[in-house]
Amino acid sequence: MSIETTTQKSQEVNKLQAQTQSLKIEVDVSNRVGGGYSNNFIDKLPQNARDRFERHGVDLSKGYPEKPPSEQIPLYVDDAQKIRDKPVDYIPRGKNADPEKKALFSKVKQVKHLTKHIGTELIGVQLADLNEQELEELGLLIAERVVVFFRDQDLSPQRQLQIGEFFGQVEHHPQQNHVPGLPGTTVIWNELAKQKITFKTAKSGTGRWHSDLPHERQPPGVTILHNDTIPSVGGDTFWSSGYAAYDKLSPEFQKFLEGKVVVQRSMHTYLDRDDPLNGGKQITRETPLVRTHPVTGWKSLYVNRGWSVSIKGLEPDESKLILNYLFDVYEKNLDIQVRFNWKPNDPKLGSTALWDNRVSQHAAVWDYIDDNEPRHGTRVSALAEVPYFDPNSKSQREALGLAN
Ligand SMILES: [Fe+2]
Repeated sequence: MSIETTTQKSQEVNKLQAQTQSLKIEVDVSNRVGGGYSNNFIDKLPQNARDRFERHGVDLSKGYPEKPPSEQIPLYVDDAQKIRDKPVDYIPRGKNADPEKKALFSKVKQVKHLTKHIGTELIGVQLADLNEQELEELGLLIAERVVVFFRDQDLSPQRQLQIGEFFGQVEHHPQQNHVPGLPGTTVIWNELAKQKITFKTAKSGTGRWHSDLPHERQPPGVTILHNDTIPSVGGDTFWSSGYAAYDKLSPEFQKFLEGKVVVQRSMHTYLDRDDPLNGGKQITRETPLVRTHPVTGWKSLYVNRGWSVSIKGLEPDESKLILNYLFDVYEKNLDIQVRFNWKPNDPKLGSTALWDNRVSQHAAVWDYIDDNEPRHGTRVSALAEVPYFDPNSKSQREALGLAN
C-alpha cells in the first residue's frame, strides 16, 4: 500500500474516531492503524526474552514487537470475515502414530501425568530436538491428554513456528503483535494488555475461561505457547478437558445437544460498513456444539464462556441457561482440570505447553500484577479441520471402557 493510501486510511480512521467521540459511542478503531514495528516497548523487553531472541538471531533493531502492515489490518467486519474464510490444508497429525509412542517416550527421562484426566509433562527432553516421527507421536499424546508440558526449554521462535507448521497451517493474525520477521509467532506479554488488569478485574480477558479463535473457519488445533519470562510467583494457566466435560453430562442431555449449532464470536471488533457509528461488531461463525476429534475420534463439548454467544434454534432464555450450565461444567469440575506453573528449574530457560484447542478451554491467572513483574512468551496456533460432528463417534470414557 502506498503512503498516500495509508494516509487516506488514517484520515478515515481519525474521522470515524472524531464522529464516534462526538456521539459518545465507544468504538475502538485505534488498532486499525499503526502496523509495522513498535518502538514503545523495546526498552521494556524482559532480559530473558531479549537473550532468547539474540541467541537465535532475531533482529530487534527495527523495534519490538511487529504488527502486520496497516494495509492488512481490516477496518470493517466484512473484510475481517473474508480473511478468516479462506480454506487451508490440514493433516490430522497423530492419526498414524504408534499408539504406544515408543519413539517419543524412549527419548524422554520421565512421562509424568499431572492429573488423571488431563495434562502430561515430558521431562528431560528438548521439544526443539524432536524429529517428525516423534512429533507425530506427540500429536497423538496431545490429542489424548489435551495438554502436554515441557519445562526448561530453549525454544527459538523459528523452531516453534516450524513445529506449528508440522501440526497445521499457522494462523497469521491480521492485527496481533508478533516477533519481528516471524508472522504467526504471536507475542503474549502483559505489558501489551491494553487495559490495565487490576486485582478486581483479573477475571476479564484471558483471565476468563475460553478457547482460542472459535470464529475461524478452521479453528486452531495444536497451539504452542512458550513462555520465556515467568513471574517469580504465580502467572499459572489452567486447562479443562472438553472430552471430560461432555462425559459429565447425562446420556439424555448428550443426545439433546448432539447436532446443535453454536454461534461463536471473535475477540476483536470491527466496524459495520453500512452502520459504522453503531459500535464495534465481531466476526461470527456457526460450529457444532458437540464436535468429534479427528485423531482420537472422541466427542468434545465445543463451547466457552469467552466467545460462545448462543445455541441456534433455541429461545434466547433457553440458550443462555443451557450455555451457562455447559460453561459451568467446564469451569467447576476440578477433576477435569490441570493447573500449570511455568517456572523452569533453570531461570535462563523457559517452559512450553502444547494444547489441543479443539477439546479444551484455558484461563490465565493474573495474580502477579501487584509485583509489576513481566510475563512474556510467544504463541503459535496451527489451524485444524472445519469442526464436525460424527454421530457414530464415541465419548472418551466410552472408547476407553471407563464406568460412568
Ligand atoms: Fe487463549
